[in-house]
Amino acid sequence: MMKLVIFSSIFIIFVNSLYVPYAKKRIDQSVVTQALNALVPLDQRIDAKVTLNYQNMASGKDFSHDNSPYPLFTSIDASVMQGPTYKAINNLLQYYTKPDIDASETMTESWNSSISDFLDTIISTQVMQNAWQFLQQNSLSPTDKDAFKSQLYTLWFQLYARNTAIGSSGFESVFSGETNSTNDVVRFNNWIKFYTQEQSTNVNYHGWFTKANGIQITLQFAWNDYHAMKQSFLLNSSPEFEFSAYTICALSGGDCTMSINGQSIEIAASTLSKNGQTVIDECYALSGGGPAPATTKKPNKNDPELQTLVDQMWAADKDRPQTGDIKINWGNKVNGKTDVSPDPMFTHVNEDLYKKPVYADLITTYNQNLFTPQVCTAESPMSGFKKSYLQTVFNTFTSSPAFDLAFKYLQNKKYPNTSSLDAFKPFLWNLWFGTYSRCSGTMGSSGWEHVFSGEWKGDEIDGQHDWTRYYLLEKAGKINYYGYYSYDSQLIGTFQYTWEKYLKPKGGFFTATSPAFDFSILTVCALEHSGANACQFNLDNYPIYITSYTQKCDAGTCISTAYPSDEP
Ligand SMILES: *[C@@H]1O[C@H](CO)[C@@H](O)[C@H](O)[C@H]1NC(C)=O
Ligand SMILES: *[C@@H]1O[C@H](CO)[C@@H](O)[C@H](O)[C@H]1NC(C)=O
Ligand SMILES: *[C@@H]1O[C@H](CO)[C@@H](O)[C@H](O)[C@H]1NC(C)=O
Repeated sequence: MMKLVIFSSIFIIFVNSLYVPYAKKRIDQSVVTQALNALVPLDQRIDAKVTLNYQNMASGKDFSHDNSPYPLFTSIDASVMQGPTYKAINNLLQYYTKPDIDASETMTESWNSSISDFLDTIISTQVMQNAWQFLQQNSLSPTDKDAFKSQLYTLWFQLYARNTAIGSSGFESVFSGETNSTNDVVRFNNWIKFYTQEQSTNVNYHGWFTKANGIQITLQFAWNDYHAMKQSFLLNSSPEFEFSAYTICALSGGDCTMSINGQSIEIAASTLSKNGQTVIDECYALSGGGPAPATTKKPNKNDPELQTLVDQMWAADKDRPQTGDIKINWGNKVNGKTDVSPDPMFTHVNEDLYKKPVYADLITTYNQNLFTPQVCTAESPMSGFKKSYLQTVFNTFTSSPAFDLAFKYLQNKKYPNTSSLDAFKPFLWNLWFGTYSRCSGTMGSSGWEHVFSGEWKGDEIDGQHDWTRYYLLEKAGKINYYGYYSYDSQLIGTFQYTWEKYLKPKGGFFTATSPAFDFSILTVCALEHSGANACQFNLDNYPIYITSYTQKCDAGTCISTAYPSDEP
């Protein structure tokens, strides 16, 4: 009896280790998120090589409504499909000719060897090497390469039956698409297949339901005679990235979150157990969670009118950069006081923006070098052409729709001198342009110079919270970006850089607002909610914390500093 028990338990251990050595298991979600986020910078995304045309939203009720006359993909640079993993996946896709889940399929030798080539190509990528390392560290995958390849083969390519016919596989479900007997697309979750089918006019895009531009889309389309009422996939990511991310998620619990370009992405990756083996059921990505950090930060809602004001100002700020006007490369996380980000922060700025008066008038003041950055050098008097350039931009800012809203808010709050804009402007002028000292009595500073232009104090940069100023100095080779502390999408960041020989150890600004918006909100915060992180609101769903202080000056009240941050 005893012998039998021992024998059978040895047998079970033996069977276990032989057939299911790396069963999936639930891993702490934050660890999985970290692992997935680590893959993102390794992905060779094709953002710059693709033009998408989202057009209208799809009809949730009626499939016969084609709300988008043009293809989703306007163009993709021809070089993309020449990449080794793209070649391998397109080669493999030609064997998936029976999307019907009830049609049985037979693996052929050439099909099988195309799978093998695909797996070899994917496994050799940096993305998959990194994913494999994570899987090994968590005992989810073997360390031997052939054994790992075999695990991926079973997980993704083993044909199985959803009903009776053996004709499904994880790869087919995710990367090729599956249909059912009522001619519905039941799974189809990859952009490459969509794109190639759209190119050969087998796919007709109907519109989108939700999307994170250039990152993810939930959409409707016809695929031959099949109806894809609502499917989701990632955009612009490489096949190795999707294959790796979905593998990690499928083996570690199935519900994952990651962040791509600041956008929170949720992955659903379910598995099935077929003949004692774990196989992929379906994997897709959603962007419903909104911007990545929004859920973790809670802004102070002590002034509901402030949030209303900010929402209205955001809507009214037509001068701010629109999608695609700016592109930021946040580079690497700050490490001490060294340059850990070789590239500039601004990858691209559509300088047509600078024709708008709020930028043009501001840039004129920069080009005229009206201020001496050294806080210990006295500023030239506020008169003559200096005063007239500054008055021009001051008038432009104060006649912007954003400022108009800010002024009405201050009127509502019964702030002194707000009986009319004309009555308020002299006070506001002094608030920003009144001079004071930051260096033993030398009148070398003003709120405007500090916030917009930036100053030098000791061997550091003081102030400088205007993205236009930063961009122009960076473009001129005078600013060297070191790395970020934190950021929210392309909206705002906290980072480190040098300007000539001066270091900004930690600073930041809005990157997706107009300077008139910044001027207006900083004014409101300085007058109504001054103090460290005392002015809090959500901007485009991100919590923002503005620190501002005023001080007594010859002119009355002057702004000492005012700047926004993505973190308290
Ligand atoms: C396909 O290849 C795998 C190994 O890569 C092998 O185990 C399997 O027997 C092959 N199947 C067919 C039908 O050739
Ligand atoms: C086919 O899939 C669609 C969409 O998922 C579903 O509504 C329909 O009931 C399915 N048909 C059958 C026969 O399962
Ligand atoms: C603003 O209001 C204050 C107090 O009501 C007043 O003393 C001051 O003269 C007004 N004007 C300016 C420009 O500050």
